[in-house]
Amino acid sequence: TERTYIMVKRGFKLIALKLVHATPEHLEKHYADLAGRPFFPGLIKYMASGPVVGMVWQGLDAVKTGRAMLGATNPLASNPGTIRGDFALATGRNICHGSDSVENAEKEIQLWFPEGVVQYTNDNEKWIFE
Ligand code: GTP
Ligand code: MG
Repeated sequence: TERTYIMVKRGFKLIALKLVHATPEHLEKHYADLAGRPFFPGLIKYMASGPVVGMVWQGLDAVKTGRAMLGATNPLASNPGTIRGDFALATGRNICHGSDSVENAEKEIQLWFPEGVVQYTNDNEKWIFE
């Protein structure tokens, strides 16, 4: 997508990518910290209703910067230029997930990519990282 291209343009590196139609059981693990919230059953049902694109992005402060590019949980509170600020209106249809800590990112990578990620070096990295 256009936003995937922006991640690349900014200097982030895509190290895993797949289309997945996740089961409710898989999604209940992914969203385990939200179990018991009133919107939880609807969230699982919605996320299991079709395929999702799973991606792992690597780069400087990828979790923090990725969350900033994603915008706030409520799209109405998200700035223009963020994914949710440009492409979403409702909290329960906010398009994209982003790991909220490095620890959770590691857990989520294990859950979605048990086969592992792809490590490689881009020739332009010296122009992106100090
Ligand atoms: P993720 O990147 O998707 O994890 O979003 P987040 O970290 O900004 O929010 P959080 O982890 O608290 O919630 C996960 C997802 O549950 C959100 O992205 C929303 O899709 C959904 N969600 C969270 N709060 C609400 C809510 O109050 N109502 C509804 N309908 N959905 C919610
Ligand atoms: Mg979250």
